[in-house]
Amino acid sequence: MVSRKLFPGPLPEISTDRLLLKLPDSGQAPLMVDFRSSNRTFLEPWEPRRPVEFYSNAYWRLQLQRQQRDYRNGTSLCLALMPPDESRIVGVCNYTNIVRGTFQACHLGYALDERLQGQGLMFEALTAANRFVFSELGLNRIMANYLPRNTRSGQLLERLGFVVEGHARRLLQINGRWEDHVLTALLNPAND
Ligand SMILES: CC(C)(COP(=O)(O)OP(=O)(O)OC[C@H]1O[C@@H](n2cnc3c(N)ncnc32)[C@H](O)[C@@H]1OP(=O)(O)O)[C@@H](O)C(=O)NCCC(=O)NCCS
Repeated sequence: MVSRKLFPGPLPEISTDRLLLKLPDSGQAPLMVDFRSSNRTFLEPWEPRRPVEFYSNAYWRLQLQRQQRDYRNGTSLCLALMPPDESRIVGVCNYTNIVRGTFQACHLGYALDERLQGQGLMFEALTAANRFVFSELGLNRIMANYLPRNTRSGQLLERLGFVVEGHARRLLQINGRWEDHVLTALLNPAND
């Protein structure tokens, strides 16, 4: 049986120079709807096809509740990137598929507001969040996969220290098509 680690305490809040990273409350669903709606066209080529409900408050109220529950159950850490005053959501970084036992690993996905690209914000967020995943969740491996044509994502991962481990054929269904991906991973330096 795969062991699980539970996190009953307060939900994590990670502060960086410019951002606050946290699991939003369900009352903050409208902020997520704004982020998703204003970046709908921008994110379409890089993500799975989204149902129409994905752009509704009702969907995000439930989804944010689920994300908090999944964090407490130890299966994911889905963080929103916000300015410190929490006036809006400018991005997300999602650590999902957390598996314990002999694996101690997860997958990472992320997206940033189109208008805020090129300022190092995702690098800043992931530097802090990866550190949290290693030191507080104690995972050994964070895996991130990207489309070969997604050069911005590949460069970001390389700068963060992720190492290419291979290529997977038809790994994920992106925007309606099964797509090959580059496989990368970052390892917990404490286990070196
Ligand atoms: C992938 C994505 C998050 C990258 O965003 P980004 O802003 O390029 O990422 P970074 O935070 O690493 O910023 C790097 C850029 O900021 C610049 N920058 C400015 N100040 C910086 C700082 N203090 N530190 C680091 N970079 C800085 C860098 O020079 C670089 O700019 P350039 O690409 O024009 O050379 C974004 O393009 C995105 O959301 N894409 C769509 C979704 C997606 O692809 N998700 C991943 C699927 S695998």
